[in-house]
Amino acid sequence: MPMKVLFVSSEVFPLIKTGGLADVSGSLPNALQRLGVDVRILMPGYPPVLNQLADLHTIGALHHLPHVDHVELLLGTIQDTGVKVMVIKSESLYERNGGPYADQNGLEWQDNPVRFGVLSKVASILASGHSPIQGWQPDIVHCNDWQTGLAPAYMKLTEHSTAKSVISLHNMAFQGCYTPNWVTSLGLPSAGFSIEGFEYHGQLSFLKAGIFYADAITTVSPRYAKEIQTAAFGFGLEGLLSKRSDEIRGILNGIETEEWNPAHDKYLVSNYSSHHLAGKQEVKAALQNSLGLDADAHAPLLGVVSRLTHQKGLDMLVPNLQSLIDQGCQFVLLGGGEMGLEASFRNIAAHNPGRASVTIGYNEPLSHQIMAGCDMFIMPSRFEPCGLNQLYGLAYGTPPIVNATGGLADSIIDSSHTHIANRTANGFVMVEASADGLIACIRRAVEMYRHDKDTWLQIQKTGMSQNLSWDKSAQEYLAVYRELT
Ligand code: ADP
Ligand code: GLC
Repeated sequence: MPMKVLFVSSEVFPLIKTGGLADVSGSLPNALQRLGVDVRILMPGYPPVLNQLADLHTIGALHHLPHVDHVELLLGTIQDTGVKVMVIKSESLYERNGGPYADQNGLEWQDNPVRFGVLSKVASILASGHSPIQGWQPDIVHCNDWQTGLAPAYMKLTEHSTAKSVISLHNMAFQGCYTPNWVTSLGLPSAGFSIEGFEYHGQLSFLKAGIFYADAITTVSPRYAKEIQTAAFGFGLEGLLSKRSDEIRGILNGIETEEWNPAHDKYLVSNYSSHHLAGKQEVKAALQNSLGLDADAHAPLLGVVSRLTHQKGLDMLVPNLQSLIDQGCQFVLLGGGEMGLEASFRNIAAHNPGRASVTIGYNEPLSHQIMAGCDMFIMPSRFEPCGLNQLYGLAYGTPPIVNATGGLADSIIDSSHTHIANRTANGFVMVEASADGLIACIRRAVEMYRHDKDTWLQIQKTGMSQNLSWDKSAQEYLAVYRELT
């Protein structure tokens, strides 16, 4: 009998996406399915999810959930991959205009504790003896981030599930902390509201609940698994994580090699591979043209696709960006987030017509075109649990320039003399997380791009020929599941 895994997530590509969690939630279940796992995703029924799934039909209903009397459970299929998705349909909770976590103005939905409390509760019920679904009971409930953190708590404390739970930590910066009145209103036993439970500085913490009650903990890179046990990266949960140190597994994310592949990327004017890199120049020219940049094949084109938040460290780029442009670089950014940062980058674009382009917003095709058309990808994150963009950069022959943290440290090998000599170099790693450290690193890359074409090509080809697929990491997740069952 194949192992049954319920993969619970608040965002799943291509149905709905705000960041890397969606990429992982789309591609890891697909890879697990290829390994013979009987996997189903469980997620909220946001409108784009209801609209995109194939063969969507009702399979049951659940009653008397916290704050909602009734939700329907639907089953559908992701068209490209055939992965099955169970959807919680509730008009009042999930069918609104706006994003999965916030409204159109970026204001968090006030009822997020209910929206994600219900997601967690439903997961725990499906893994229990009183699941309304006949014939499919998970052996493993695989939770992701705070939005699903209450599931392991419900499984142990209220549903007495015999299934095992895993929580994957994609980002410790988001914890889902709410006032203590939510404990009873979400149907959690008040005994759990303690240090040995889901209490965190007087609040109910969804993420702490997950970490405390899950049977296994994973993070999305080996380096981040260690980092989160320190005060600098643990966001207050380092103590608890250190206690469970032996049980934390760091598994580096892979990428969806069909979706992110320059050889057949549907968003590019020209496709290319490590053997035929000429197409990359054509994509660069098309990108320059479409964004109003000067047609200049030789200008080093620096790219960014990112959420604009403190985590991503792009404020470190602002002070020296003008000097890079003055020295002949071009710059393109796609992203959104903090208003101050958006304004700083917009300002630079306004002062450098033909040399810098800034697009604020979310744009899937453009993100691929930037990844392919740029010469270098800049990602100076202060912390980065894994990071997918640097992996896309490798696959697209766009060497990443990164800070030495988390998954960036685990995936990018600096172009030092030694690493060039032993042919492992695939990017550029900052020596220091500061504006000075970043500019020094970019200058080093630009210098090599301009004056040492052979080495540049070697670095590009090293990245492009790496196996970045999910296969190995999915095996590691399977090993975690097997140890539990
Ligand atoms: P995080 O999840 O912390 O934002 P990751 O590097 O893991 O960082 O994943 C970010 C994902 O979101 C990537 O797939 C990236 O291409 C995508 N992305 C980020 N910002 C945008 C944007 N403005 N438009 C399109 N895609 C974006
Ligand atoms: C989070 C992290 C990012 C990681 C992604 C998927 O969004 O910030 O580093 O790649 O989750 O695991």
